[in-house]
Amino acid sequence: MVDFKTAGESHGKGLMVIIDDIPAGIEVDVEKIDQMLYRRQGGYGRGGRMDIEADSVDIYSGIRGGRTLGSPVSFIIHNRDWENWKEVMSPKKSDITEKDSITLKRDDRKKEIAPHVTQPRPGHGDLAGILKYNLDDVRSILERASARETAARTAAGGFLKNFLSYFEIDIISHVLQIGSVQAPEVNVEGKEDFTALKDRVLESPVNCFDRESEQKMMELIDQAKKEGDTLGGKIEIQTTPLPVGLGSHTFWKERLDARLAAAMIGIPAVKGVEIGPAFRNAGRWGSEVHDEIFYEKEKGYFRKSNRAGGLEAGITNGEPLKISIAMKPLSTLYKPLRSVDIKTKKPFDAAVERSDTTAVPACGVVAEAMTAFILSQGLQKKFGGDHIEEVIRNYHNYQAGIPGEKSP
Ligand SMILES: Cc1cc2nc3c(=O)[nH]c(=O)nc-3n(C[C@H](O)[C@H](O)[C@H](O)COP(=O)(O)O)c2cc1C
Repeated sequence: MVDFKTAGESHGKGLMVIIDDIPAGIEVDVEKIDQMLYRRQGGYGRGGRMDIEADSVDIYSGIRGGRTLGSPVSFIIHNRDWENWKEVMSPKKSDITEKDSITLKRDDRKKEIAPHVTQPRPGHGDLAGILKYNLDDVRSILERASARETAARTAAGGFLKNFLSYFEIDIISHVLQIGSVQAPEVNVEGKEDFTALKDRVLESPVNCFDRESEQKMMELIDQAKKEGDTLGGKIEIQTTPLPVGLGSHTFWKERLDARLAAAMIGIPAVKGVEIGPAFRNAGRWGSEVHDEIFYEKEKGYFRKSNRAGGLEAGITNGEPLKISIAMKPLSTLYKPLRSVDIKTKKPFDAAVERSDTTAVPACGVVAEAMTAFILSQGLQKKFGGDHIEEVIRNYHNYQAGIPGEKSP
């Protein structure tokens, strides 16, 4: 079953990802991967980092002549700011002392950075990290805890979207809420609705379907930026219909809902996951929640609603997947929060290194990537195969046994 590992620090040489156990013969559109990286970097409310990095994948292995070989696929995303950080992040023993401050030179701008950080920021892994790993430099934690690493996850997910497209599976995230601005729900019933949602999201600066809410979200982001504050929000991840039978009810780890929830919560700053409208369903009558089952000869089994979000007992039920996630407001504020210096034990106001006002739209792109990963695992587990044609044959064979199901 496909899996991946990432390595790399925020200001290191670059990020790398190795994707293992992927069928041979998959046609790879590298544009698809770079487009995901581009979308992860964008969104209204992002900070200075996005001006420096223009992410793209440098393919190291596993793809030849535009198709996968079946061997590990690996990418490197180079950190374009490395030149400025190579002293601070050098793997060699350093002469830099904690008293030194380094001047970063970028274009005409100059910026002082602390190579040795003793001031943990609230809402980050800084303090828990140094205590756990017995380190005296917060930078040794924050460099890996930084959400920069999600670029590598996004590359993996962008790559796996190529695999999913053989099964006509597509995924899009859209922003339902930023701070107090809530957009109306989007009802996606068929292919056309999905395409309309995707087209609109791709042109929206905040990945929001509704234009009026988009405007209000941008105004709120401007206000937050002016006040030195940050914003979180809610994102929905929506897919095209999935084949029945991915995941399993037999064991908690095999449940696709559990795997998706873990993948979502694993994204930095994501603190809640909902399968379908789970929290609203919690306050409703059962008769208002469950999706009734119908059958027609042509269509096979179907439902007229999808309040389960496409999953029952951890198994895909043939409907589109619909999950949403809650992202907390970002921890690094220009309006500083109080903390304590680990060396002096004296209080200080946590300063900003470089930060976004909100990263809700970008977080949605990472969630798409992680959804692509979990669905790819589900497909592989169900259909196996060392070559894409074998996977497709297995898939057709299975679909043929399900009334009304048509293979792409
Ligand atoms: C795409 C993305 C971008 C982020 N950018 C920032 C940022 O600029 N500033 C910040 O304080 N946190 C940012 N975060 C969130 C932090 O990485 C995260 O809150 C922190 O590492 C602590 O982890 P936790 O919130 O999961 O507990 C971002 C998260 C994502 C997904």
